[in-house]
Amino acid sequence: MTPLIAPSILSADFGRLADEVAAVDAAGADWIHLDVMDGHFVPNLTFGPSVVRAVRHASKKPFDVHLMITDPDTYAPQFRDAGADLITIHAEATQHLHRSLQVVRQTGARVGVSLNPHTPLCVLDHVLEEVDLVLLMTVNPGFGGQSFIKQSVEKVRRLRAEIDRRGLPIDIEVDGGVNTRTIFEVAKAGANVFVAGSAVFGEGAYAAAITSLRARAVAALGGA
Ligand code: DX5
Ligand code: ZN
Repeated sequence: MTPLIAPSILSADFGRLADEVAAVDAAGADWIHLDVMDGHFVPNLTFGPSVVRAVRHASKKPFDVHLMITDPDTYAPQFRDAGADLITIHAEATQHLHRSLQVVRQTGARVGVSLNPHTPLCVLDHVLEEVDLVLLMTVNPGFGGQSFIKQSVEKVRRLRAEIDRRGLPIDIEVDGGVNTRTIFEVAKAGANVFVAGSAVFGEGAYAAAITSLRARAVAALGGA
């Protein structure tokens, strides 16, 4: 499986957001990760669909929109219209996860579901066939620059085993505290999409940062 690096613009300079998106695109980002926070589901606020639309022109790479909001059913179509290619909703943010995943599916976007660090994998038992991607939070959502929660590695391993057991073509994305050290462990455990905020935007040279992350993930998969 080829590892994909998804820089999170949460750690970018918001005053020059379109330029930052273009810069990580040119630096080799596979996907652009956009963190949407509503101040209810998480204790932070970021941006809505109008900002996604405003930066859409800056890259042709897939826009990976991570909705950390209550009521994803209401807003998912607006993010699709704004240019989202993949929309990930949190299992904890909706009373009716199966229905919410159908709402995202109907927008035409790829469908992702995310779990907070404490949420057990069994909440996915009856919806795994409905999704294209599972995003496992490896920090508590809300802020960039936090430390990777090490119990996540075993969670990734168990999820990959279950996905393989069912023979499903599902991506496992990890988000939070991913750097050149932690990426090795989670890649080995079976993750294949890696969100990195501070590990990319906190570095002066975006291309070097993305290249190092990718190299460590490839090494973990036995490729180098
Ligand atoms: C956290 C966000 C992350 C965040 C990761 O709630 O979902 O995408 O930007 O930031 P780092 O990589 O700095 O931990
Ligand atoms: Zn995120």
